Amino acid sequence: MEKKEIKIRSYDGQIDRIRIDDLERRCAVGLSKNTFLFTDTLGDPICRIRHSPLYNMLVAEADNELVGVIQGSIKTVTIDCSIQDRASVGYILGLRVSPLHRRKGIGSTLVRTMEDWFIANNAEFAYMATEKDNEASVKLFINKHGFVKFRKPAILVNPVGNHTLHISSKVEILKLKTEQAECLYRRFMASTEFFPHDIDRILTNKLSLGTWVAYPRGESWSTAFEPDRHLPSSWAMVSIWNSVELFKLRVGKASTSCLMSAKSLKLVEKILPCLRLPIIPDFIHPFGFYFMFGMYGEGLRSHILLRSLCRFVHNLATQCKDCKVIVTEVGAGDILRSHIPHSRLLSFPEDLWCIKALKKDRASTFFELTRAPSLKSLFVDPREV
Ligand SMILES: CC(C)(COP(=O)(O)OP(=O)(O)OC[C@H]1O[C@@H](n2cnc3c(N)ncnc32)[C@H](O)[C@@H]1OP(=O)(O)O)[C@@H](O)C(=O)NCCC(=O)NCCS
Repeated sequence: MEKKEIKIRSYDGQIDRIRIDDLERRCAVGLSKNTFLFTDTLGDPICRIRHSPLYNMLVAEADNELVGVIQGSIKTVTIDCSIQDRASVGYILGLRVSPLHRRKGIGSTLVRTMEDWFIANNAEFAYMATEKDNEASVKLFINKHGFVKFRKPAILVNPVGNHTLHISSKVEILKLKTEQAECLYRRFMASTEFFPHDIDRILTNKLSLGTWVAYPRGESWSTAFEPDRHLPSSWAMVSIWNSVELFKLRVGKASTSCLMSAKSLKLVEKILPCLRLPIIPDFIHPFGFYFMFGMYGEGLRSHILLRSLCRFVHNLATQCKDCKVIVTEVGAGDILRSHIPHSRLLSFPEDLWCIKALKKDRASTFFELTRAPSLKSLFVDPREV
């Protein structure tokens, strides 16, 4: 059979929007062998990268048919925490190839073209995250493109119930002004791996619902804008990103006609007690989530305060009709992990992050990064969820 020529070009909203939505539907990412996660980008396929400082979406065409897509974004982050070394990093996401056109090198060509775009824009590293059991993706990035596994954070998912949760009267919760939050981030998290240096842009984005701190009632939190101000004996913080406004998810079988099959129903039955959703459509129909980021605490009671903050986030989520789960992602060895409420059934204990150096003079940093054990904390940028 004649080999079709593959053309790679930048995304054009007018021509590609509907075709990409269609491709996304055909390329649902597997949660398990029979269960798939569908993403509805609410008519804006570029929504997952739109909030990054520099981004690009490429499409692959064969005979005018859209057969593949990839997204990428570039930003500056802390890369080597010990010396607070900064690096420009390119993040690859949303790689999809139409099922009928797989194993023809299209995925590989899209990755290579995105890497070229990263290099042209001075990115020093490329990184990506994938399900560790996604064999096609792991083999493509590691075997074909020289990426190396380097972090295994956990994605923690907690269902939003119908009722508000009790928060101890011994805890004070305060919403910070954006500049106060930025100050706190730069003071305590600037050396965290992958901390984005444009944190101010994240905090002022309309999808950032805010940053809250919790501390023991009776102590005070100076609301004055002082970088070195005295803080309570114990405190914790969290910010919320409103992903509900960006895209919706739906869990189901690959074919809609199979959605109500016995297996799906069994799955729903299994998950429903955790979700505490009284009716099946709430689970099968599109739902959104709040993403918690920038979780941090200091002092002996910080973990208790963090729990209160998580309850507070839950209570906020109950007021949002489409927000059915709260999601966060934490480093493999992060001590906060055990204090963040989550459902084991819905969570992913090992997301796999892989990295590649794009510049020769970054080889030693790359070696250190991939050799070093998973650090305690990792900043997961809400713009990349
Ligand atoms: C992953 C995906 C993009 C690969 O696209 P593709 O065009 O088929 O990939 P390529 O043809 O360029 O394959 C390149 C290499 O990847 C590996 N690979 C790709 N698909 C594979 C599979 N199903 N099983 C094992 N290895 C696979 C092979 O090493 C392959 O090289 P080879 O064909 O010379 O052996 C595609 O399977 C897909 O869209 N999957 C669903 C969405 C998804 O999981 N995306 C990744 C999320 S990060």
